[in-house]
Amino acid sequence: MDYLQIEGGKPLSGTIKIGGAKNAALPVIAAALLSDRPVLLSNLPNVVDIRTLLRLLGILGASVEHEGHQAQINAGALQSTRAVYEIVAQMRASILVLGPLLTRFGECEVSLPGGCAIGQRPIDLHLKALEAMGASIEIKGGYVHAVAPSEGLQGAKIIFDKVSVGATENTLMAAALAHGKTEIINAAREPEIVQLCEMLKSGGAKIEGIGTGRITVEGTGGAPLHFKKPISVIPDRIEAGTYLCAGAITHSKITLESVQIEHLQSTIDKLESMGCSFGFPTEESVTIHPPEDRLKEVNIVTAEYPGFPTDMQAQLMAVATLASNESLIEERLFENRFMHVSELNRLGADIWLKGNVAAVRPVEELFGADVMATDLRASSALVLAGLAAKGTTRVRRIYHLDRGYEDLQGKLEQLGAAILRKKER
Ligand code: EPZ
Repeated sequence: MDYLQIEGGKPLSGTIKIGGAKNAALPVIAAALLSDRPVLLSNLPNVVDIRTLLRLLGILGASVEHEGHQAQINAGALQSTRAVYEIVAQMRASILVLGPLLTRFGECEVSLPGGCAIGQRPIDLHLKALEAMGASIEIKGGYVHAVAPSEGLQGAKIIFDKVSVGATENTLMAAALAHGKTEIINAAREPEIVQLCEMLKSGGAKIEGIGTGRITVEGTGGAPLHFKKPISVIPDRIEAGTYLCAGAITHSKITLESVQIEHLQSTIDKLESMGCSFGFPTEESVTIHPPEDRLKEVNIVTAEYPGFPTDMQAQLMAVATLASNESLIEERLFENRFMHVSELNRLGADIWLKGNVAAVRPVEELFGADVMATDLRASSALVLAGLAAKGTTRVRRIYHLDRGYEDLQGKLEQLGAAILRKKER
């Protein structure tokens, strides 16, 4: 197993390029199942989760040609509509094949994803939406077995009582080939949802209300979508936010290229309130200018887009450990997304948890230690803390990082960090 070894306290400088968004690429890959012709995808991040979903499509019988940041998927002749436990257990986003398989083939089986390190993460909203469109759903042997009416899924009015990115995505994809109009109320508004809607629209579904909480989809009535142009995945706002935090915590001016600035607004706002300023050299780049003296405290409540993303909570917490006053961080989306707290405390942070609120008390310095990554974003928070800590930090179990950050070590090295990837003996 690999680990990262970081000699902290080194200032960073320079420019790096941000890759395509993992969480946008995953539904885009699943949506390729809605077509019977080749679909070309570009700007895919080269990370484990993307390879896992492409492998699942391959197991279903799609032809998948994947090289670097591009893939061509042809789901013209699938042999199976069963998404097996072995893959779904590795990555819960595999549930995104449920809507496309059901709407296109009328029947499918998808393993239940189960919980994960950040919470219970049920899929009840996904299932209720598909049932509202006429699907019969049975859970048996750990699998969701879904069957559409013989005439196909029917458009329906779906009111989500909670905003869910994944449930909105599954419903959109199911609705794209359904008969009639589907109305989704309380839909998620994340940029990843906007990308998926634009893709479905380019393939032949009629969609209105994109980027709002009320989306309507006029399905094709069973006809597969045809994507005439390649789909280019949007920049990763969480990868970009993580590097902005690297600049903030090390008091280093760094520039990120290939970003979509409006997607970064809530992170930029928080870092600004801590005393950082920002320049925008081009429409697609951002430079962070952290203050020379200590950062100010920050109060954060995670929320759905355009609020402050739960996927940036751990990284901002790492930055807040070295602020001049106490910060309060409230996690509203996931019930167990504070696994990084005890590991940050191992590095000398002073964080106290009460329910879903973390009080981050200021410390003068962090000190290098051995720490354990527990989930993707928690891992990146530990790397950030390691960059600022005195001495050597070793971050173990970095397979979590490999799931969602392309070449984190290489990009930080490019910025001048003393960071090595090593193998456990
Ligand atoms: C997506 O997960 C992201 N994953 C997550 O990123 C992200 O943290 C999350 O959205 C919130 O922004 C991908 O896009 C692949 P949700 P998703 O459904 O879709 C509850 C990362 O680090 N809920 O919006 O699974 C749920 O438990 C990952 O890259 C139900 O109750 O999240 C949570 O409390 C981690 N029933 C809330 O809704 C359901 O049926 C939001 O979850 C579905 C969700």
